[in-house]
Amino acid sequence: MIRASDIEQAAEVLRAGGLVALPTETVYGLGADAENPAAVARVYLAKGRPPTHPLIVHLAGAEHLDDWADGVPDAARLLAERFWPGPLTLVLRRGSRVPLEATGGLETVALRVPNHPVALELLKAFGGGVAAPSANRFGSVSPTTAEHVRAELGDSVDFVLDGGPCEVGVESTIVDATGEALSILRPGGVTRESLEAALGAPLAVPEASPVRVPGQHPSHYAPRAKVVLVRPDEVVAEAERAQDQGYQVGVFLPPAFADTPVKAHAVVQVPDSEATYAHHLYNYLRELDEQGCDLIVASLPTESGLGLAIANRLRRAAGPRNSG
Ligand code: TXA
Ligand code: MG
Repeated sequence: MIRASDIEQAAEVLRAGGLVALPTETVYGLGADAENPAAVARVYLAKGRPPTHPLIVHLAGAEHLDDWADGVPDAARLLAERFWPGPLTLVLRRGSRVPLEATGGLETVALRVPNHPVALELLKAFGGGVAAPSANRFGSVSPTTAEHVRAELGDSVDFVLDGGPCEVGVESTIVDATGEALSILRPGGVTRESLEAALGAPLAVPEASPVRVPGQHPSHYAPRAKVVLVRPDEVVAEAERAQDQGYQVGVFLPPAFADTPVKAHAVVQVPDSEATYAHHLYNYLRELDEQGCDLIVASLPTESGLGLAIANRLRRAAGPRNSG
């Protein structure tokens, strides 16, 4: 339970240049005063994140949009009005209020209004923008509970607001509104279909690489265990082959193969509903790590609706590990 005094205390920590872990509807964020470069620097340090990697600035409401961004295009304004508060991040031209430290030196800024009562209360109490990446070490799986945050970041966070498990479970959809046409930079909690319906126009999305081809997707959102992606009908055979070779295999058993017996160290039954899958995805990856799996065999869901974001995260989790 969050008390009003917790929100006040967390806002005070932000004002003093400290770090607050906050729940959002997507994943937990590691927040700092976006206008305080020293506080923002502490975020990068706590995460082990390269300083050129920009942060999302979280706002209390769409009415603050023009305080933080310049020359907001009509299409972006429409999306903000339609989807905020919600799992949508808009990349816009940086307003003068945003220090370059928060944007990794870019002249653009990523803005979002999270749809979580605790985050919104904190943002209102604080009054400014909160720069917050996901509250995990750089490259690893995003936290969807306060316990995950404490386990991963420990003492480097000054205050953890526990708002329970995150509803959506994967990060926000990032839409670039700085070019000629809007495009999706990262699929996430707001589906491509609902964005296109609101805009009345198609949106470009990042290129997806085929299964088993590494290279374009440096590892991110990754558990300790190596992740291998195969076709749904190959999951059981691939898992058993690896288990026979001596791996401790964790299997993501696709819905079409539910209840198929599989010889492996641990089995996750992938839910039929995309929303349920997204909600649990990072928990599954963490749990298989905790159970001592060193290899995870999974397949990609159909890439529509939330399946697009789930497939994106699984590909990233399966990407090459030498990218730092
Ligand atoms: O759901 C979310 O978006 C969560 C919660 C905490 O809000 N946040 C999150 O932040 O996922 P982070 O830092 O883990 O991922 C933000 C992504 C990064 O990949 C970053 O490159 C991109 O947003 N980004 C931030 N500013 C950008 C900009 N100006 N231009 C392009 N990409 C940007
Ligand atoms: Mg992240």
